Amino acid sequence: MAKKIIYNANVTNQKNFVVIAVSAQLESLFFTAMTNAFGKSHWQALIQVANKQQQGDYQSNAAFALAKQLQQSPQAVAEQLLAHLPTNDIIEETSISGPGFINIRLTPACVSASLINMLQSPQAGINPSQHPETIVVDYGSPNVAKAMHVGHLRSTIIGDALVRLLNAKGHHLIRQNHVGDWGTQFGMLIEHIIQEKLDLHSLDSIQELNTLYQASKKRFDTDEVFAKAAKERVVALQAGTPDTLALWQILVAKSQEHFQSIYNQLGVLLTQDDIRGESSYNDDLPKLIDDLEKHKYLTISQGAKVLFLEGFVDKDKNPLPMILQKSDGGYLYATTDMVTAKYRIENLKANRIIYVVDCRQRQHFDMLFAAVKHVGYADNSVRLDYVPFGAMLGDDRKPFKTRSGQVIELASLIDEAIKRAYDLYKSKNPDATDVQAMQVAKVVGVGALKYADLSNDKIKDIVFDWEQMLAFDGNTAPYLLNAYVRIASILRKADDQDGNPVSWLLESPQELDLAKHLIQFPELIDQLSIDLAIHRLCQFLYKAANLFHRFYEHCPILNANHETKQSRLKLCLVTQNVLHTGLNLLGIETLESM
Ligand code: ARG
Repeated sequence: MAKKIIYNANVTNQKNFVVIAVSAQLESLFFTAMTNAFGKSHWQALIQVANKQQQGDYQSNAAFALAKQLQQSPQAVAEQLLAHLPTNDIIEETSISGPGFINIRLTPACVSASLINMLQSPQAGINPSQHPETIVVDYGSPNVAKAMHVGHLRSTIIGDALVRLLNAKGHHLIRQNHVGDWGTQFGMLIEHIIQEKLDLHSLDSIQELNTLYQASKKRFDTDEVFAKAAKERVVALQAGTPDTLALWQILVAKSQEHFQSIYNQLGVLLTQDDIRGESSYNDDLPKLIDDLEKHKYLTISQGAKVLFLEGFVDKDKNPLPMILQKSDGGYLYATTDMVTAKYRIENLKANRIIYVVDCRQRQHFDMLFAAVKHVGYADNSVRLDYVPFGAMLGDDRKPFKTRSGQVIELASLIDEAIKRAYDLYKSKNPDATDVQAMQVAKVVGVGALKYADLSNDKIKDIVFDWEQMLAFDGNTAPYLLNAYVRIASILRKADDQDGNPVSWLLESPQELDLAKHLIQFPELIDQLSIDLAIHRLCQFLYKAANLFHRFYEHCPILNANHETKQSRLKLCLVTQNVLHTGLNLLGIETLESM
């Protein structure tokens, strides 16, 4: 028998329509039950999405901790909890399984209430944070005069997704591209350019800049006279000698052009304005040392000024120093990062700083975070997150290289993704025009590249596999885009949508499964905005697309009777909204047809 569910929410007045996440509502019900059954205390409801969906939609694991405190069995505690659960209209049924897990099944009314909100929200129900923060995301961060490598590609893609996600939660985001534009390597580069009388303006690819870098490095390592001149050139650069500085500026500008063209190809948010390279902190490096010396934080070790931090030892268990100024007066990567962190907290007023940098730099960031806390630049109100990621490997499971052993040029990698998507599309749609095919190929190719990166647990190395990445089945961008396109096409065919958000008919298991999955979206985004585990968003979207296909196979939409059809069309709309919002958070565009 069809149950008709009407949820009477004041849907016309958006401002009054406050939606409380399902798990928060369950928390409060269970909290009341705990207090009623066992008296006031610091009980925790421990609500989570059910591990086994056959038994319920959500579960509470509260009985275990309570049982310990009350010295009863978890089973007995669970029974008492259920006996004291206040009457409500969100829980349809409960059961106890295993030693004391409480399974909770939601009422269709609860499900449809959440759906109404998601239908009307431009961001599929994502609620703006109650405590908006200023968040700095340090990502991209390639190095001048060197080609961006795959690690920088990963940082750019992951960082971009995090920025979009946190932005959707209503935080104030500040993107910082910490470009490596300073250091002793510029001495040898510039010296080489001067000695060889090279015209930098005629350089038109980053590859040429890279070759230049390699040539000067080789000379530096083998030619003592050159090495000496290069070191003097560093001094000239640091002193701001005009001709040296001018050449450095050209190197920086040429590289930035290259970076920006990659960002444009990828469709990420980074712009010229987000660049704040290492060199911009130069003037503050001596001030940092003065400040730390004044407060007696520094120790002299073999002529260098260092900071000793608790808990950091080398492999022989000797205290490991964080070197901030070398004995020759030079500063290091870590020195700049100390100043940078201080600037972000004091000037940019960051409540949180997120560093998206490959996992080989873990120790550097562990020390940096300990150091800025130790010297008081960051107090407990500032959250510092290091988001490490693994390497990208070729299908031979070795670091990703071209056939000739060169590092992959990112521009050609992205071009290849688009080209492959183009060929694939053309083979399936021989009649498509080139313009059409190119439009689709850009979205699918770049989307596939990003998705392959984001759908893996970041810390793992990822194996680069074109076929798998562009496949139309499996956890891929093309699969999700395909689901989105299918929904768009159904909605185009339905020209009689009544636009009534309120009444839902959720009768068949396939539509209920889909609906129950979709309503978890806003809560998932809440969790991800804390733990930054972006691959879980991919898993979620993949499951949504899967459940949608099952729903689509089992439940006629366009040919159903009027009421059922309207409800199913709305379910299509919510699915579309979730896929669209979710893909956009990943930095992936959607298509209306393909
Ligand atoms: N330029 C550095 C590299 O290529 C990454 C910089 C990361 N950000 C930072 N604040 N240290 O390894």
